[in-house]
Amino acid sequence: MLEKIKATANYLAEKSNARVDTGIILGTGLGGLVKEIEISATIPYNEIPNFPVSTVDGHAGRLIFGRLGNREVLAMQGRFHYYEGYDMKEVTFPVRVMRQLGITTLFVSNASGGLNPGYRVGDIMLIRDHINFFPEHPLRGRNINELGPRFPDMSKVYDVQLRLKAREIAERHHFELKEGVYVGVSGPTFETPSEYLMFRILGGDAVGMSTVPEVIVAQHAGMRIFGISIITDSGVPGQIVEISHEEVQQVAMAAEPKMTLIMKELIGSL
Ligand code: HPA
Repeated sequence: MLEKIKATANYLAEKSNARVDTGIILGTGLGGLVKEIEISATIPYNEIPNFPVSTVDGHAGRLIFGRLGNREVLAMQGRFHYYEGYDMKEVTFPVRVMRQLGITTLFVSNASGGLNPGYRVGDIMLIRDHINFFPEHPLRGRNINELGPRFPDMSKVYDVQLRLKAREIAERHHFELKEGVYVGVSGPTFETPSEYLMFRILGGDAVGMSTVPEVIVAQHAGMRIFGISIITDSGVPGQIVEISHEEVQQVAMAAEPKMTLIMKELIGSL
């Protein structure tokens, strides 16, 4: 695996010839941040050696190198989801490559279902912590000591300072930010009402099908992590309605400008 990570990082370093230090993973309907990047190189995933081959028709992902808020960033437009059939090593491979390229701060975004009764559809939630409900662990297997420790600490994964700054940015722009616990599940089904209730009882504020694997690997690699989630539907008893992926995408896209503003100003403040 180490050889693959290094080979892929070398390939990308040659293609982009910039020294990146900030990584961004853009979730469902949240690609708008790309418009804010002064792009220096765009590389489709299918051209990148050792990258997983995309299974989803219509949304081929790509890596974007460029400048955002005075920093050299590498953004993933489209991620690899566990429900698509990738194993956890594949889902998290891009994060390994980011670290190898010199990235030490990772920004992740996603869409999720709200569990907290105080949340409304369209709200934005800073991720304070997560609960890993995926059936496979990305760090299972022999530990590669060059990449990180065997038993990584998880007591403070989501950076306090970055969350504080994000709240200041939201205050300055007069919009509200929630802050809570993201439950990561495999999907691809949305939850039954009883499952939403279970995740609420277990301590979750929102539930979604991504982010936790990438964050675990980033934490293993010693990266500074910021996560943000858009509440696209409700899992609160009495508020649950039928949903579709299209609706999730629409709500995410509607809330996206606020998220983009936070990410842009936050990255600018680093
Ligand atoms: N459940 C799981 N994943 C999701 C949801 C949800 O309600 N909404 C967006 N992603």
